[in-house]
Amino acid sequence: MLLDSHGRQATKLRISVTDRCNFRCTYCMPEEGLVWQDRAALLSYEEILRLARLFVDLGVTQIRLTGGEPLLRRDLPVLVKGLKALPGLQKLAITTNGTLLEQLGPALYAAGLRSFNISLDSLDPVRFQASVRRDALQQVLNGLHSLSRWPDCEVKLNTVVVRGHNEDEAVAFARLARLHGWQARFIEFMPLGQDDAWAQHSVVPGEELRQAIDRVYPLKMLAPAGKNPAARWGFVDGTPGEVGFINSVTEPFCHSCNRIRLTADGQLRTCLFSLRETDLKSPLRQGLGDAELIARIQDAIWQKEAGHLIAQPQFERPLRTMSRIGG
Ligand code: GTP
Ligand code: 5AD
Ligand code: SF4
Repeated sequence: MLLDSHGRQATKLRISVTDRCNFRCTYCMPEEGLVWQDRAALLSYEEILRLARLFVDLGVTQIRLTGGEPLLRRDLPVLVKGLKALPGLQKLAITTNGTLLEQLGPALYAAGLRSFNISLDSLDPVRFQASVRRDALQQVLNGLHSLSRWPDCEVKLNTVVVRGHNEDEAVAFARLARLHGWQARFIEFMPLGQDDAWAQHSVVPGEELRQAIDRVYPLKMLAPAGKNPAARWGFVDGTPGEVGFINSVTEPFCHSCNRIRLTADGQLRTCLFSLRETDLKSPLRQGLGDAELIARIQDAIWQKEAGHLIAQPQFERPLRTMSRIGG
């Protein structure tokens, strides 16, 4: 098992497959100047599968593929197929910006992927462009709607809410969730990287959004945050669809965190905000055996941070941008 010294067990692994992205979201990376990592620096699919197998043997039950933009990594369905074949893995999911979904969705579905989280910050093209620095709302919506042909797919929307930018769209997103049976989730803006313009006053508490939605579409709680970062709420009138609130800043859920992260360049991160990483790529390439790799992984996870310190004086931002961590 993968236990930490605070009594938590790691059961969810987020694997970033590339640091590249075709967007430049303001809350995630700078507009210019970010240098992509060399291909050789990235774990190959064979290396990812070897590590994933070890993690699953150690009790990981869910894997989420992230980026950058994961669909930019060539032959992603090959990796999906390999991961789906791991005995003991209960769920495989992806977090994507949706731009390439219309094109690549069918191959991913055929490879066995059934769970998609799509980032969508605004339903207004001008605001959307301001958020991601690309004119691509229609492309993302096309990708999103292309999933409708597969009723067995789980679809969640991720909206990073920034004060003065999109907090007035909460009800519109809830309406969209009701229309399609999706889960619309609102994420509090978090400080990551060096220049994401984060300030406490730009954080919109999820509870404020929940109340705004509740006034139009009364809500009932389905599940509090804990095992999942989102607190889930359904509609009192029984309409399908849900809304979710990822209140990482105002209501941290670190005490029940079950997540670990593997970066595209093979570093194990035990917290989104870790200042320390454990190199798994070098030992892998030096030919270390499973037992030694497992010892390294278990040791890193034992030392997992108690939680983040956002908005406290001791808080230190990790150097990696969100795009290089994978969200
Ligand atoms: P599911 O609940 O399984 O759908 O996945 P998820 O919500 O963990 O995945 P997703 O990639 O959609 O993440 C949504 C947001 O939650 C992102 O902004 C993440 O950074 C944030 N998030 C996920 N895990 C953590 C965490 O451990 N700590 C904090 N603070 N935020 C997290
Ligand atoms: N704060 C909160 N969420 C963020 N994401 C990216 N950067 C931030 C940030 N600074 C979200 C994206 C995506 C997920 C992987 O992380 O919107 O949905
Ligand atoms: Fe790309 Fe995702 Fe970062 Fe936006 S949040 S720039 S889509 S990696």
